[in-house]
Amino acid sequence: MQLLDGKALSTKIEAEIVNEAKNLKNKTGLVPGLAVILVGQDPASAAYVKMKKKACDRAGFYSVTHEMPNDISQSAIENTIKMMNNNPNIDGILIQLPLPKQIDTTKILELVEPSKDVDGFHPYNVGRLTTGLDGFVPCTPLGVMKLLDEYNIDVKGKNCVVVGASNIVGKPMASLLLNANATVEICHIFTDDLKKHTLNADILFVGVGVINLIKEDMVKDGAIIVDIGINRTDDGKLVGDVDFEKVSKKCSYITPVPGGVGPMTIAMLLSNTLKAAKAHANERE
Ligand code: GUN
Repeated sequence: MQLLDGKALSTKIEAEIVNEAKNLKNKTGLVPGLAVILVGQDPASAAYVKMKKKACDRAGFYSVTHEMPNDISQSAIENTIKMMNNNPNIDGILIQLPLPKQIDTTKILELVEPSKDVDGFHPYNVGRLTTGLDGFVPCTPLGVMKLLDEYNIDVKGKNCVVVGASNIVGKPMASLLLNANATVEICHIFTDDLKKHTLNADILFVGVGVINLIKEDMVKDGAIIVDIGINRTDDGKLVGDVDFEKVSKKCSYITPVPGGVGPMTIAMLLSNTLKAAKAHANERE
């Protein structure tokens, strides 16, 4: 078994991004800028936003976080997004999800200017991804594809099983795999007999947020395992959705949690923000 080391690859990618951002600044005077909206007090969301801000600092990007109370109105968030859409110092806009119940999330995501949609959640970018056109791709599945590529794992013709059908992870993961000519199965909460499907996987992708959902008897010998789950155990340890100890004895490759997909997500956010900044710089030339 070999570990798919997302920490090492993300460090390498971040170093490249730092260089590219320096070149962009030398050529155009522009510094990539990311604006984040964080609503409420959810500790996990706050921790993610802090990591994203720290990554921007490491990369030399400008970043600003708008913290809003849990009882914020729809129009207040919408007005903030409109302001960010019109601010030339902001290349990327990220709305940390989930939003509180009173907020219409779809309407919020649709308001983000697609050229600043570094999370790739706007229907315009979702459509471009499913059609196989260039656009912004959600950071977590994009990071997974880069990680597989680093280890020369080609998904073409492989049975790829994705467990989880969220807009953030499962659906864009499936689109990227299909675009790369994999045979793709998507399983979700209503799937009958999950094990029957996961046993088919040459490469198994799991991102649902359930500790130990994938056990050793659900995995084919020599399969490649990509664990996209991030969960905290009662004693505060970070673990994924896969029973790492047992499954790692059976598979050929596996992502650790932490140190697998998580750091790749952050690196891809920087990469998408740099991509947005370059496109905005070109438009201004
Ligand atoms: N909430 C959970 N994952 C994500 C993500 O990748 N981006 C945003 N904006 N919110 C999230």
